[in-house]
Amino acid sequence: MAFPDTRLRRLRYNKIVRQMVTETHLRVDDLVYPLFVCPGENVKKPISSMPGNYQMSVDVLVEECKRAASKGVKSILLFGIPEHKDEHGHVACQSNGIVQQAIRAIKEAIDDMLIIADVCNCEYTTHGHCGTIIDNDVDNDSTLKTLAQQSVSLAEAGADVIAPSDMMDGRVARIRAALDESGYEKLPIMSYAAKYASGFYGPFREAAESAPQFGDRSTYQMNPANSDEAMREIAADIEEGADIVMVKPALSYLDIIYRTKNEFEMPTAAYNVSGEFSMVKAAGANDWIDEQRVMMEVLLSIKRAGADIIITYHALEAADILNGQK
Ligand code: PBG
Repeated sequence: MAFPDTRLRRLRYNKIVRQMVTETHLRVDDLVYPLFVCPGENVKKPISSMPGNYQMSVDVLVEECKRAASKGVKSILLFGIPEHKDEHGHVACQSNGIVQQAIRAIKEAIDDMLIIADVCNCEYTTHGHCGTIIDNDVDNDSTLKTLAQQSVSLAEAGADVIAPSDMMDGRVARIRAALDESGYEKLPIMSYAAKYASGFYGPFREAAESAPQFGDRSTYQMNPANSDEAMREIAADIEEGADIVMVKPALSYLDIIYRTKNEFEMPTAAYNVSGEFSMVKAAGANDWIDEQRVMMEVLLSIKRAGADIIITYHALEAADILNGQK
């Protein structure tokens, strides 16, 4: 039927009707809150390019997790800034490593908090790349060894989900095998399946002190121009045993999220990355946009595109709005 029989505005005049016909609902349960843990005590070091985010020592981190839990945000993604780095990222595999310490402390202090542990070498290597360097480039197969070790070590500390973000070929299979051999066959893997070589990670590299000291990540992360290749990456990770697949970044890659959900019908996560967060914060601070409104619109669009899980630095502020406190 066409106009004048059809008038699409009929469902927009009344607020309650508008709410009734709302197709996409964002929930606090959808949100994952990323956090950065560093050595020391009582440390809360602001990350200048990510207002409201901090490098936190374990004691401060535990309090932040309690704050998240009190708002109903029950899931965090942990990144570590170690005291010392080494060439191969072995510091990430130690049972007293910074993330391992943090996991134990959170588990002891809070009952109901899901800890997703990021697995990658870039925060732990002196050169800032995501794996072992051979001939001036990240060597795929030797990196798999440290990734598997790191995963098992994080599992031993009590991580609930293992999230490899390195983009090496074959890492999901290798991590799955290592976890199973160590008795962690029940631990899910959330793989950063389609992770692009993106300029939107800039602020994170300040936060995690993980900027590559030479070159860039384009020999392992994906070319932003490619969509079919993302489907091959995702298919490979599912084949290797990924339980949840992630697309990263989110906002400039909504088409990839949409394709992923439609083609694979898998639990799908999207990472609303640091640069996406900082752009909203910067424009908001200048009063160029209504920050809260844009934040919610961004998160909703990621959900509408097909994401079941949204990893976002906005998690607590968004939870306040969803909980009706603001
Ligand atoms: C580590 C990693 C990165 C991010 C998450 N895990 C940085 C990178 O690949 O350089 C970025 C997250 C963000 O920008 O918020 N491999």
